[in-house]
Amino acid sequence: MKPPTTMFAIALLALLVGAPAQGQHGQEMKKSLAPYVTSPHNVVERMLELCGVDDGKVVYDLGCGDGRILIAAAKKHGAHAVGVELSPKWAQVATDSAVAAGVQDKVRVLQQDMMDADLSGADVVTLYLISDANSRLRPKLEKELRPGACVVSHDFEIEGWKPRKVEKIMVYQRPHSIYVYRISAKK
Ligand SMILES: C[S@@+](CC[C@H](N)C(=O)[O-])C[C@H]1O[C@@H](n2cnc3c(N)ncnc32)[C@H](O)[C@@H]1O
Repeated sequence: MKPPTTMFAIALLALLVGAPAQGQHGQEMKKSLAPYVTSPHNVVERMLELCGVDDGKVVYDLGCGDGRILIAAAKKHGAHAVGVELSPKWAQVATDSAVAAGVQDKVRVLQQDMMDADLSGADVVTLYLISDANSRLRPKLEKELRPGACVVSHDFEIEGWKPRKVEKIMVYQRPHSIYVYRISAKK
């Protein structure tokens, strides 16, 4: 597994050493596949461009955090966007941000575990998780996505898949990698 980037390492550590969680928060932590760290806006823009997002596309961001990918997809590219977010707090932030950006008609936020989400309507799936999470998601992506769907992952490869393209961009002197995949025809 590729070592996590600094921001991810800090956020992961915070998640792991935090006080033992109880109740609903405990359930949420058990299902968590990645900590909350945002993709820089220019990385978001490039992820959407590399998957050819336009007004005919439906974009799913799995673990949508503050909703920035959804808002960019809807506002700049005219796409419909669906965010799936485990944390009630971040799901609410993403919903409120879509309203503030005036794209609430094009954005839907589902507060649930991404492993339970139905991905069959997605043309594009965006990910900023960790390698282990990508590996857990892989069979679900293979089963539910239609042939030709584009999957784009920030910084973490999907092991066992061959990327169509890998692009590296620098943001504030930190390199970011973008991995682009296409779902092939079912055998
Ligand atoms: C690294 S952040 C990425 C946020 C956003 N996609 C971006 O690129 O800016 C990962 C997000 O995934 C969410 N998450 C973690 N496990 C999840 C799960 N099982 N289902 C849905 N969301 C999850 C976290 O709460 C966090 O907001």
